Amino acid sequence: MSTQDIALVGLGVMGQNLVRNMERNGYRVSVFNRTAAVTERFMNDHGQGTSIQAYYGLRDLVAALERPRKILLMVKAGAPVDAVATELGPLLEAGDILIDGGNSHFGDTGRRVEQWARLGIHFLGVGISGGEEGALRGPSIMPGGDRDAYRQVEPIFQAIAAKAGDGAPCVAYLGPAGAGHYTKMVHNGIEYAVIQLIAEVYDFLHQGLGLPCSSLAEVFASWNRGELASYLVEITADVLSRIDPETGSPLVEVILDQAEQKGTGRWTVQDALDLGVPIPTISAGVEARSLSALRDQRLEAARIFGGPALAAPGEAKRHLEASRRALRASVVCAYAQGMALLQAASHTYAFGLELAEAARIWRAGCIIRADLLEDVRAAYATQPVIHNLIFFPKFRAILQEAQADWRQVLETMIRLGLPAPALSASLAYFDAYRSARLPANVIQALRDYFGAHTYRRLDREGTFHTEWTEGEPL
Ligand SMILES: NC(=O)c1ccc[n+]([C@@H]2O[C@H](COP(=O)([O-])OP(=O)(O)OC[C@H]3O[C@@H](n4cnc5c(N)ncnc54)[C@H](OP(=O)(O)O)[C@@H]3O)[C@@H](O)[C@H]2O)c1
Repeated sequence: MSTQDIALVGLGVMGQNLVRNMERNGYRVSVFNRTAAVTERFMNDHGQGTSIQAYYGLRDLVAALERPRKILLMVKAGAPVDAVATELGPLLEAGDILIDGGNSHFGDTGRRVEQWARLGIHFLGVGISGGEEGALRGPSIMPGGDRDAYRQVEPIFQAIAAKAGDGAPCVAYLGPAGAGHYTKMVHNGIEYAVIQLIAEVYDFLHQGLGLPCSSLAEVFASWNRGELASYLVEITADVLSRIDPETGSPLVEVILDQAEQKGTGRWTVQDALDLGVPIPTISAGVEARSLSALRDQRLEAARIFGGPALAAPGEAKRHLEASRRALRASVVCAYAQGMALLQAASHTYAFGLELAEAARIWRAGCIIRADLLEDVRAAYATQPVIHNLIFFPKFRAILQEAQADWRQVLETMIRLGLPAPALSASLAYFDAYRSARLPANVIQALRDYFGAHTYRRLDREGTFHTEWTEGEPL
């Protein structure tokens, strides 16, 4: 009998918790996992006394679903998505809906939407953020694909999504093709940037100025009660206060300083380069992870190169407020860059994205949730095509107020020899944006010199070339 509302394939961390979330919200969910033992374990741990039904073959899984069938894939991104969808294909019929909830590349999603549409099957690419806890309690959900197909799964998504302070579910139809996965990709890019910014401020106050982790945890906790209130600042306070039971030192101090990455940050930078959108803070976040991974080389270089002495303990207190302002302004730059990229992508790929909606659904459930997102939402709701968030009065004021402190923090970090790629990329982004005159005139002159690429002039219309080797030197 066909009784189940939705099926989920892929009982990894995310899949398991999404199933439990849907079941808690009254949906009858069928589950399947490639490795049967995982399904058995899941049913033993979480399936007893629920309406969840386990299947050990895709044919039976599909047969149990009400029409149109809705199947949520939560498998590893890449080839596994195509492999599972291809196995499911012959079992589906026109009007059925395949939903990819993993971190797929938006280009793959666009291709899959088209490929499945030819068979009359709807393919939705849905970004889901919030990690394990979010999947269980309420994630932020970023759907893209066919709008009518989305409407058929919308009630389920609205039920399981996180609810923002105003009670609105953190899900909204974002656009056709890969619009949902694109938005999730940029979300992850902003996440890379903010995490790197936090790490640099930790480095400044802890390694640079000697503030112990326990005090720094209190600093982040207090920042989280103010304008910087956000999930990442909140969990930084938790992380810094955790003691390693084996050594008695802060756990963070014994964690290897080599950051890993799964690819969404890199994709964000790659696409921003293709679209010509500057996102230097996000790039810095990605590159800082790559550099951290070169640990053997760093250890060798540390032995070879000396550097300035770090400041005496006790100095940190003087720099706390400046650090808060520098972090806040840099975080604004990271969000501004992400939103600018979304705007350009929406234009190039015809996503028709509403940026206010993207900001709205990031306000709860996802990793980059932050109080500031309500201001981002409000900014785009009143002016949908602002060139950049930094022009909006609220953010203009934050950047303006931070300027002196931002420079002072970076001056001190440079003096101490502490790397600050994301903080400095943010300030350089701001400084470049507010420069009426950039040195691009020299770039144009050099290009014209060696390649006859021509240049334009400030004082006259037209395109010019100079025979540089023939002219009079200054
Ligand atoms: N973890 C997070 O915090 C998080 C957050 C947001 C989004 N995501 C995304 O959500 C998706 C799921 O993530 P996850 O962390 O729960 O799990 P995952 O480790 O990315 O994937 C594990 C699941 O994929 C299945 N799988 C892998 N290759 C397969 C194949 N060729 N055929 C069939 N099934 C295959 C596994 O089945 P077996 O048990 O048989 O190996 C398992 O059920 C990923 O795209 C991930 O990037 C993850």
